[in-house]
Parts: sequence; structure tokens; C-alpha cells
Amino acid sequence: MLRAMRTFSGTRPATFGRHSLEAACRAVVSSASSGRTVTLADGSELALRPIGEQDLDALIRFHEHLSPESVHNRFFGLHPHLSVRESRAFVTVDGRQRMAFILVDRGRIVAVGRYEGLEDQESAEVAFVVADDLQRHGLGTVLLRVLAEYARGAGYQRFVAQVLSSNTAMREVFAGSGLSPVFKRHQGVTEVELDLRSVEVV
Ligand SMILES: CC(C)(COP(=O)(O)OP(=O)(O)OC[C@H]1O[C@@H](n2cnc3c(N)ncnc32)[C@H](O)[C@@H]1OP(=O)(O)O)[C@@H](O)C(=O)NCCC(=O)NCCS
Repeated sequence: MLRAMRTFSGTRPATFGRHSLEAACRAVVSSASSGRTVTLADGSELALRPIGEQDLDALIRFHEHLSPESVHNRFFGLHPHLSVRESRAFVTVDGRQRMAFILVDRGRIVAVGRYEGLEDQESAEVAFVVADDLQRHGLGTVLLRVLAEYARGAGYQRFVAQVLSSNTAMREVFAGSGLSPVFKRHQGVTEVELDLRSVEVV
């Protein structure tokens, strides 16, 4: 079992509310001129970067390797394949209203976190998915923080999400975010609201 370290290498720690990214995440994020890296407890490194159109094929492969349970939790039903149209939409971001970050291991996408701005211009809906073999190593937590910092910089005040009420993993990531999570349960789906106003833009 990988256990992520709590040290932060590279430039000064990103601040996240009253907590530093270093203290809040099990996986470690570092920055260098070549880009950002997430280091797992066993020393393996993942590249952290925005998604782009060049990631279309890798994103399709990533989705096809997800377990049915992960797909169900992400899409609330059966969805074994992404259509070309859907995949194109997922790799197309504008850096403000639509943004997504990926973690990449030697060309293989292993996690995606995205937000999409809502009509009120203050809220954005978030969604995450981590490859089954790398779940529970801190990557969902890292992506939430990276997205939160980015979205705050883009002017958003809150994140919202719809989570299957049975999805303990996602609820726990939000519960541990330090972003004053509010959960409203409606039958099988829980609506989550996170307050971004304490997130410092770095
Ligand atoms: C939900 C998901 C993104 C979480 O990402 P992750 O990288 O596995 O989560 P983390 O490792 O950051 O977990 C942080 C904490 O959340 C809790 N947690 C995570 N997974 C859990 C699980 N399966 N059961 C109970 N608690 C869990 C733990 O407290 C964990 O910290 P710990 O391991 O130190 O105890 C990931 O499980 C996933 O991709 N699931 C399938 C897709 C999905 O559900 N998407 C959500 C749609 S919005």
C-alpha cells in the first residue's frame, strides 16, 4: 500500500484556506519549470497538467479501463464507452468556464478532475475520477485542491457536485476538504456545496 509523504518540495507550499496543500494532501505536489508533479509514497511521480485536445485517445483508453463501479459512480449508470463527441467535449477546456486537470503516468491518464461553470457565474460543478488501481492514494484530494485554487483564481465562489449517496469515497473526499462542505441528501443522490472563498489564489 502506498502511503504518501507529507513533505512539499519545489516552491513554497500553496496555501489552501488556513491549511497548506502540504498538510492537507497525502500525495505531494511540487512545482518546477518543467511543470507540476505529484509524488506518491513509493516515490513514483505523476505529471499534473491541464487536459488538452492531444489527450483525446488517452482519455478514451482511461475510461475503458475503469471498473463498472467507478463508471457507475461517475456517470450514475452504465457508460462503458465515451462517444467521440463526448470525449472531444471532455478534452476541450477554455481555462475559465470549463477546466480540467489530469494526472499522467508515462503517457497514461490515471486521474481527471474537472469543473464546469454554472449560469450564476459564481458556482461551478465538479467531478472526479481516479483509475481503480490508484484510488485511495490521495489523488482525488490533490485534484480537488488544485481545481479549487484554479477556480478561485478564475473568480468562482463555490463548487457544487452531485454524488450518489452510496459513494462513500467521494463524500469523504469532500468531507475532508476543509471547504465547509454542506451535504443535502435527496433520495439516492447527495448534493454537495463547497465554499471556495477562503482559498487563497497562488
Ligand atoms: C471518488 C474518488 C475520486 C476519490 O479519489 P481517491 O483518490 O480515491 O481519494 P483519496 O485517496 O484522495 O481519499 C481521501 C480520503 O477520502 C476517504 N476515502 C477515499 N476512498 C474511500 C473509500 N473507498 N471508502 C471510505 N473512505 C474513502 C478516506 O478518508 C481517504 O483518506 P485516507 O485514505 O487517508 O483514509 C475515486 O474513488 C474515484 O474515482 N471513484 C470513481 C468515480 C467517482 O466516484 N467519481 C465521483 C463523481 S463526482
